[in-house]
Amino acid sequence: MNDLKYAQERTEYLRKALNHHAYRYHVLDSPEISDEEYDRMFAELKTLEQEYPQLTTPASPTQRIGAAPVEAFGVVEYAVPLLSLANAFSRDDMAAWWRRTCGLLGSDGFETVCEPKIDGLAVALTYIDGLLFTGATRGDGYRGEDITQNVRTIRSIPLSVSREAPPRFEVRGEVYLPKMGFEKLNQRRVEEGLALFANPRNAAAGSMRQLDPSVTAARPLDIFVYGLGWAEGTPVPETHWEVMQWLKSLGFKTNPLITRTRTLEEAQHVYDLWVAEHEKWPYEADGMVVKVDSLLMQNELGAIGREPRWAIACKFPAVQGTTKLQKIEVSVGRTGSLNPYAILTPVRIGGIVISQAALHNEEDIHRKDIRIGDTVIVQRAGDVIPEIVGPVLSLRTGEEQVFHMPLLCPECHFEVIKPDGEAQHRCTNAACPAQALERIKHYVSRDAMDLEGMGEKLCDALFKAGMVKDAGDLYSLTPADLMLLNHMGEKSATNILDSIGRSKQRPLGRLFFGLGITHVGQEYAELLTRHYRSIDALGTASAEELAAIPSIGPRIAESIVAFFRQQRNRDIIRKLRAAGVTLESSTDASHEGRPLSGLIFVFTGHLEGFTRPEAEARVVRLGGKAAQDVSRKVSYVVAGDEPGSKAAKAAKLGIKIVGESEFRQMIGAD
Ligand code: IVH
Repeated sequence: MNDLKYAQERTEYLRKALNHHAYRYHVLDSPEISDEEYDRMFAELKTLEQEYPQLTTPASPTQRIGAAPVEAFGVVEYAVPLLSLANAFSRDDMAAWWRRTCGLLGSDGFETVCEPKIDGLAVALTYIDGLLFTGATRGDGYRGEDITQNVRTIRSIPLSVSREAPPRFEVRGEVYLPKMGFEKLNQRRVEEGLALFANPRNAAAGSMRQLDPSVTAARPLDIFVYGLGWAEGTPVPETHWEVMQWLKSLGFKTNPLITRTRTLEEAQHVYDLWVAEHEKWPYEADGMVVKVDSLLMQNELGAIGREPRWAIACKFPAVQGTTKLQKIEVSVGRTGSLNPYAILTPVRIGGIVISQAALHNEEDIHRKDIRIGDTVIVQRAGDVIPEIVGPVLSLRTGEEQVFHMPLLCPECHFEVIKPDGEAQHRCTNAACPAQALERIKHYVSRDAMDLEGMGEKLCDALFKAGMVKDAGDLYSLTPADLMLLNHMGEKSATNILDSIGRSKQRPLGRLFFGLGITHVGQEYAELLTRHYRSIDALGTASAEELAAIPSIGPRIAESIVAFFRQQRNRDIIRKLRAAGVTLESSTDASHEGRPLSGLIFVFTGHLEGFTRPEAEARVVRLGGKAAQDVSRKVSYVVAGDEPGSKAAKAAKLGIKIVGESEFRQMIGAD
């Protein structure tokens, strides 16, 4: 046998063996060989592929990692939108869903499947001719970000599937970071002075949105697949349960706890069991998803807006623990707000060690009668920041101390005030250095301009050294500046400057958010980009014009105008412009192009021409959202005959109320 022929057979053999053992290890959690044996075979395959590059295939286990970093993620469009789930918060809610489903199906003779609701990041994986083709995030449900290179680094996701698989199909699942991996990652970040991830879900999402796949590869991410998006070319099973077994047989990792149930009582029994034991699971789950098993029935039940009627997420109750409140510290936010937070004796709650909890404001602390030195009940629900429920009064010793907000800013020692009608105390010094530093940290943060590698410590150091006084200064940093800082080598300096350079291309919405305009959160920032396509357009808008935008009230409008009036902010924008930061909207932002994008509708009363679900579906199809309750975020309330209390509430909140004919015009139905 000649060398090439031998190499060909050997690489095929090694690939098959390595895929098999990786599957045993990462999917089934039941390895058959030692790590050393695996590494030895892997090294042999790598050597052979280096020697005979023509034998390398994209699905080879050696090809998971190694793709070059990208400038930005591409967009993947979904043929079948990725839906979300309605929530149930109690057994009663679950029972109500069950009864509704019985009513809609006209029978209670349906089966259901119960699954843990994994707290991670939704992904859709397409396979074409047996090979992993794309992996994408959920995005807005219609289009997601193409994160294929990162998805490939997750060892429990097969790069290739057997010949029995359909020629084209899409699998959906949740990528997550196991609790243990999360703790290790955060430990490492403490050592590196980087901002900590608040919870495993954020950590998973942050890891998957890395432009450099080698960063993703270094994080121990995993997946549970939970359904099939679509499949072409081969018939697929008729029930969800069978789909899951079938996906498992194709090599996908499914959750072993999935249970098929026949009655509400059975499902509730599974729920009770999982409520009791989920804290011991090695991953975060925030509830149980119940799904109607028959795909035909799923289809018949359909969806309202983005929420399928055939499934419901039954949330797990919050988990609590007790610990000692050692002291209350106060940090200064970027808008000058004084934010008290509790330093706790570290305690493990729901598998995560908690040593701090948010305390909101002084009023809240007094209302709950929380005192320094108290033993307190700490609670965390799913992904939210831990909070203090209250003191354990029976354990009071009399030594506890009532907390008072400092009279002077803990950072700049200027006077502290509490504006009328606000819960928060504020520092009165517009030039308070703590605020300036927080504004820089906000600008570089993941949800804003996402300057990877710019951790809190680096921001602190640059600020303290006087090199960066505001976000605009980031763009004039040089390698020499950075290398003046302790421990910063040339390579790290170059990486940071690259990351600063990449941030110039961020979409406008991120910049609007990153500027830190008071009251302008992520959603409002996105909304503003749909009305103002450049920073100059936003900066010259009047308060009246801004307040005319549905869901933007006078308070936000004033705050935006005040922001652009300040010389300090004008200077930052001048520096950003000079550095070439994108200050205009590119034409193809993900939500744009659909007539109702950014708008939220609530329906009330009887409509002549549509059923409620039809009207809601029309809104969603045109890029809008349909909500059930009236809140300040709602853009329009569509009132039919005999409108209910929702119309009254809308009037009170100043939300625009339109009739059916106006609505028909908006959706182009006339
Ligand atoms: S089913 C209707 N099953 O929860 C189809 N989702 O709140 C929706 N999730 O976006 C998905 N575990 O990312 C389904 N076993 C599970 C899930 C699950 C976690 C996530 C998923 C979805 C979100 C909806």
